[in-house]
Amino acid sequence: MADLTLKNTVAEWLADPEGRAALERMLAEAGQTTRSLAPVKRMSFEKLIKLSRGKFPRETAEQLVAEVRAAKAGGTSAPAAGPETEPAQSSATQAAATAEAGAPQPADFGEAITPGRFTDQTVVVTGAASGIGRATASRVAREGGRVVAVDMSAGGLDELAAELAGALPEGASIVPVVANITDDAAITAIVEAAGGPIHALANVAGVMDRFAPVHTLDDATWERAFAVNVTGTMKLMRAVVPGMLEAAEGRVVNVTSEAGLRGSAAGAAYTASKHAVVGLTKNSAYMYLNTGVRVNAVAPGGVLTGMQPTDVDPFGMGRVQAGMGVMADIAMPEQLAATITFLLSTDSTNINGQILASDGGWSAA
Ligand SMILES: NC(=O)c1ccc[n+]([C@@H]2O[C@H](COP(=O)([O-])OP(=O)(O)OC[C@H]3O[C@@H](n4cnc5c(N)ncnc54)[C@H](O)[C@@H]3O)[C@@H](O)[C@H]2O)c1
Repeated sequence: MADLTLKNTVAEWLADPEGRAALERMLAEAGQTTRSLAPVKRMSFEKLIKLSRGKFPRETAEQLVAEVRAAKAGGTSAPAAGPETEPAQSSATQAAATAEAGAPQPADFGEAITPGRFTDQTVVVTGAASGIGRATASRVAREGGRVVAVDMSAGGLDELAAELAGALPEGASIVPVVANITDDAAITAIVEAAGGPIHALANVAGVMDRFAPVHTLDDATWERAFAVNVTGTMKLMRAVVPGMLEAAEGRVVNVTSEAGLRGSAAGAAYTASKHAVVGLTKNSAYMYLNTGVRVNAVAPGGVLTGMQPTDVDPFGMGRVQAGMGVMADIAMPEQLAATITFLLSTDSTNINGQILASDGGWSAA
């Protein structure tokens, strides 16, 4: 292939011997392999820079372009990667990469707003300062809802409100509430901020773990994952459901994860906490059968958000990466918001107790 540029996709980079070698070397420095690129392989470098929010900076990408250009001019590949990387690809793998690089690309997702879908409804959305929660809060408001937007991060909530200022239909609004959902006083403040009936609740706030398996798991990681992902979710449901039962109307959407469906997607703490969210969802759906209150969950696959594991356990990360070979493309938060708002809306009538994977098909693999 001629010179690689920022316009080429990750798949095209991987199909090119010099491009692949440069990527392998960069990833090896971070203790990773090209397997971790599977969910973004259809993205161009330009798009990856834009969407990575600083994790893949332009300077790094431009350095890779320069390295590949120099390697091609010199007739040599970029220096070989260290021992952590995958073995050199076979000609069959190279052929597959080349075929994939040339395949037609599906169009990017574009939101199709349903005007008025949440008119006269109050919807509580947690995790609204970032990622999936923010995209959900934004979409509900743009579809006419009054959104009680909850997060610990005041800055992200301010950004959301500023972004939507002057852009919302009549009656729609964002009511920001800076709150920690593990705190009882904060739960009371959230319900008070709603100031009346709550028609729907999206429990999106969550925290990742360190990918630690149980033998290296620390108490703090376990307790934090359960406090936010499970206890916070339960506390807000417990506070909101009585009003929904009284009104004989309400939808709760919890956010679990691919890690709530299988054992190979995260560490022990996050995996156990997201399985607990599945149990809480199913039990509640059963308990409130025929009351007008429905409880479902969404299980996202990989989504490009602010969620970043820190202090990663190398053993656990290695195991998780080994299981990611057939992972679907990474999704944008707006794609998850499309799934969540469907379940939050009355369009999901007759759906109750379901764990809806929104993962591009990863869980089907
Ligand atoms: N990003 C992914 O690939 C992915 C995959 C599967 C599931 N999920 C789940 O999706 C949900 C949203 O995650 P995201 O990817 O948008 O992450 P994110 O980090 O971008 O957003 C999470 C938000 O939750 C907030 N939050 C965390 N703890 C809180 C607390 N105690 N009280 C109030 N707010 C709190 C954070 O401040 C943050 O704004 C989480 O439940 C996560 O487990 C994400």
